[in-house]
Amino acid sequence: MIYLDHGATSFPKAPGVSAAVALYIDETSGNPGRGGHQLTIAASRAIESARATVADLLGSDPERTLLGPGATFWLNTILCGRLGPGDRVVTSALEHNSVMRPLRWLEAQRGVEVVVVEGAAPTGVPTPAEILDAVNQSPTALVVLTHASNVSGAVIPVEEVARRVAPIPVVVDGAQTGGALPFAFSRSGLAAFVCSGHKGLQGPSGTGVVVLAEGFDLQPLVRGGTGSNSESEDMPVMLPDLLEAGTPNGPGIAGLGAACTWLADRTVEAVQNHERALIKRCITGTLAIPGLHLTGWVEGMEQTGVLSFTIDREDAGELAAWLDRERGIALRAGLHCAPAAHRRLGTFPTGTLRVGVGPQTTEDDIDALVTALVDRCG
Ligand SMILES: Cc1ncc(COP(=O)(O)O)c(C=O)c1O
Repeated sequence: MIYLDHGATSFPKAPGVSAAVALYIDETSGNPGRGGHQLTIAASRAIESARATVADLLGSDPERTLLGPGATFWLNTILCGRLGPGDRVVTSALEHNSVMRPLRWLEAQRGVEVVVVEGAAPTGVPTPAEILDAVNQSPTALVVLTHASNVSGAVIPVEEVARRVAPIPVVVDGAQTGGALPFAFSRSGLAAFVCSGHKGLQGPSGTGVVVLAEGFDLQPLVRGGTGSNSESEDMPVMLPDLLEAGTPNGPGIAGLGAACTWLADRTVEAVQNHERALIKRCITGTLAIPGLHLTGWVEGMEQTGVLSFTIDREDAGELAAWLDRERGIALRAGLHCAPAAHRRLGTFPTGTLRVGVGPQTTEDDIDALVTALVDRCG
């Protein structure tokens, strides 16, 4: 099978991930932080070691690097924890539903004002000046932006936005960029950076990370046991316990640690260069196909390893099913959980066909896709 759905999740996982997951299950499966026996201590060590590896890769302080079930969970924790009645939040039209749905819920249920900045066509990427302009129109509690569109791969210059709108906190959904774009949280000026563990970081499903700047504090979305301060019916105030209630996904976190070790060794810069070259090859090949239109794309834009397109008179869903059935090529058709982005990019409600490459994708994989598209549509 040729797997080109890295925008959804990475496959195959980084070498060493499944061994680390199995090792945790078979030899380390105590409940971390709960009790003092050998397995508990081994589990705590495995988790803290993974945390340190993830923090190292993201250039963050391990004490403010929290591990949980995914980017969605951390985005909800931040948005629902920070925004209340009368607050104003500025965002982009390229957001995934893991930002848009909590924002629309907060708007309807808590009276939060949601301001969506529509970036110019064809990319829909808002400029830092446009975000600053929106922020300056009325007191704003928070800016939340995707680091890169999960539909088109277009990158928003979030660090420049943070510099321009300071001291207003900027929260970034890095689900599409963590592990795929070189990044150091400590130098970013962001209040929080959220990413999936199972996409660019190459780890198992059910893992995600949030990194918090000093002074940007959160209330937990879920409360429960932490193994610490068990005499109290209130949550402990120290991190990570405050934000990591319940038994953690130890196998997933151990796998994530192994994935980040592999990535650090290969380097995020090398992965970025590899994915850039593959996307360039894909663009060159697909642009030659009559009736094929790249979505939200312009020559020279900064982009991740994701690319979307439509083809005249071809239904994206049917084409994806044909590619899977006839050529063994896995990619995703539809709205990719980002209806706002498709509205902005002119592909709502039918959506696009999305290609997502990863560190283990090859030039042959891209050539097989282009050949299949030429055979079917050329
Ligand atoms: C831009 C973006 N944000 C958030 C998410 C949600 O990530 P997770 O699966 O880790 O909850 C995704 C996943 O598709 C995404 O592409």
